[in-house]
Amino acid sequence: MKPIFLFLAATSLVWMACGDAPTSSSETNSVDVTKDPAYKTGLALVSKSDCATCHKVDEQMTGPSYRDIAAKYAKATDAEVSQVAQKIIKGGGGVWGEVPMTPHPAIVEADAVAMVEYIRLLKK
Ligand code: HEC
Repeated sequence: MKPIFLFLAATSLVWMACGDAPTSSSETNSVDVTKDPAYKTGLALVSKSDCATCHKVDEQMTGPSYRDIAAKYAKATDAEVSQVAQKIIKGGGGVWGEVPMTPHPAIVEADAVAMVEYIRLLKK
């Protein structure tokens, strides 16, 4: 009787320890943004356009990196987001430097907003 009891006690300890593990590790991991529908929609739109000729996620090229843009507009209001979206459509410079972004007149506002939302999800 006694060994069985000890065995059960030991197993339940192991079980409790294992049961705790996923909870504590998911607390330390950040949320996976790539599973966000807004991420997928925006990424698809950005990939279809010419954005990658001037922008990279981590490095500044002709344009600022997406991470820098994400950090700048992390707490942006809807009005600011649509202003940035208008910048993608109409082009222009002066915020990050003198080099202007080329206009993208074929992009509709909703798609431009979706692109900005995707970029904002790339914040570290
Ligand atoms: C010819 C190069 C070029 C292309 C192509 C380009 N960009 Fe840009 N982009 C820039 C430059 C340069 C800036 C900085 C403009 C400034 O200083 O105001 C910029 C700025 C931005 C900003 C920040 C705007 C702001 O006011 O802070 C966003 C967002 C952005 N680009 C997204 C995009 C997206 C999305 C695409 C594709 C549809 C794209 N860019 C294509 C060069 C480019």
